[in-house]
Amino acid sequence: MQVLVVGSGGREHAIALKLLESPKVDVVWCYPGNAGMAQAARIPKLAGSDVNTLAEFAATEGIELTIVGPEGYLAEGIVDAFRSRDLCIVGPSQAAAQIESSKVFAKRLMEKYGIPTAAYRVFSEYQEAKAYIEEMGVPIVIKADGLAAGKGVVVAEDVETALEAVRVTLSGQRVGEAGRRIVVEEFMEGQEVSILALCDGKTCVPLMPSQDHKAVGDGDQGPNTGGMGAYSPVPVVDEILQQEICQSILLPTLKAIHKEGIVYTGVLYAGLMLTAAGPIVVEFNCRFGDPETQALLPRLKTDLAEVLLAIAQGRLSSLPPLEWDPRACVCVIAASHGYPGPHETGFPIRGLDVLEKMPDVFVYHGATALRGGEIVTAGGRVLGVSALGDDIQGARDRAYEAMAQVEFENIYYRRDIAWRVLGTEKAN
Ligand code: AMP
Ligand code: GLY
Repeated sequence: MQVLVVGSGGREHAIALKLLESPKVDVVWCYPGNAGMAQAARIPKLAGSDVNTLAEFAATEGIELTIVGPEGYLAEGIVDAFRSRDLCIVGPSQAAAQIESSKVFAKRLMEKYGIPTAAYRVFSEYQEAKAYIEEMGVPIVIKADGLAAGKGVVVAEDVETALEAVRVTLSGQRVGEAGRRIVVEEFMEGQEVSILALCDGKTCVPLMPSQDHKAVGDGDQGPNTGGMGAYSPVPVVDEILQQEICQSILLPTLKAIHKEGIVYTGVLYAGLMLTAAGPIVVEFNCRFGDPETQALLPRLKTDLAEVLLAIAQGRLSSLPPLEWDPRACVCVIAASHGYPGPHETGFPIRGLDVLEKMPDVFVYHGATALRGGEIVTAGGRVLGVSALGDDIQGARDRAYEAMAQVEFENIYYRRDIAWRVLGTEKAN
């Protein structure tokens, strides 16, 4: 079978490599891809990158299964474009993807159906938002309604910061049209956890819990990024809490979407805050998480192609329970220094050949490119190194041991991935 992985990050590289392990898969195509995916899979030359061009390619090439990584393609309706040509694809329709592409949609859905989420109001006028913020006090959270590539949320500690965030977001200066409407939300205290679930419209199969590290700096300091590292499992989310999350959040959310006349298929990602009052939804995403996927897939023993086909064909209920490696996995992301702000790129990456020989170590390329036969940095989050270990400490030691072999001129990575489990002592 030929499969297509849409996207160009570490998440998609991890998906592509896992699919290559499947006896069902003969060829993996990746688009747009990166240097790592170009080594492992095929990158097609296409006339455009819009959803119809991708669907045309899949139809002409005889692709039997497509999996979409990034939310942008899902919000543009890639699943609708493929399905209208009877092509098999994993992901939510454009209507279902609103759970991520519009925070207002997600909040109103949760409010209407009693799914636990922070108190909020929606605004498109500065003065009204200002009055609400003054009434609520700080800390408070300002969120752009639309997709903003991780830059749409400001957690404001003081009123001045909150009002400035409202002003620049509503005016379009911060994230363009995505910020013409905002959600102003109550601040929640606690640690975050990502619960991803596979959905085929009828059945919901949660994956193992994982935890991302969104802030750029050690100790969760500094601005938020796309994610600087992840680990799985998350000991604080035991079996009982997983059940509770399933019963009080995942299943009610799917039921709510279906009641709105929308069928949800693909991956539903619940970003949760574990508060003193229980798990509360921070956000939903309509896809696999990045870098959560890079900490989950090394642990997945079930054939990923089988799993994805079962989602696409609506037969998740007949799939045997997913099999997981009991070992832990830690993923550390290496970024270009300066990210998420301005940063230089184009630096050669060395040491990857050493990592290839290290057992239980996985390298997932993000922003990498090929230049004259050499792999060079091409953006903010350059690559991730994941490692399996007998426990989280073992996995983390191995991931950092591997990362120490990677060199590029302005390499930066956090030294404290999994600190909530292991404490604040930093890795070397
Ligand atoms: P979101 O895109 O909604 O997930 O927000 C990005 C990040 O901002 C989250 O991962 C949290 O770290 C933080 N955040 C969002 N909403 C809240 C909230 N209500 N309380 C505290 N932190 C939040
Ligand atoms: N890890 C955060 C995200 O995928 O949105």
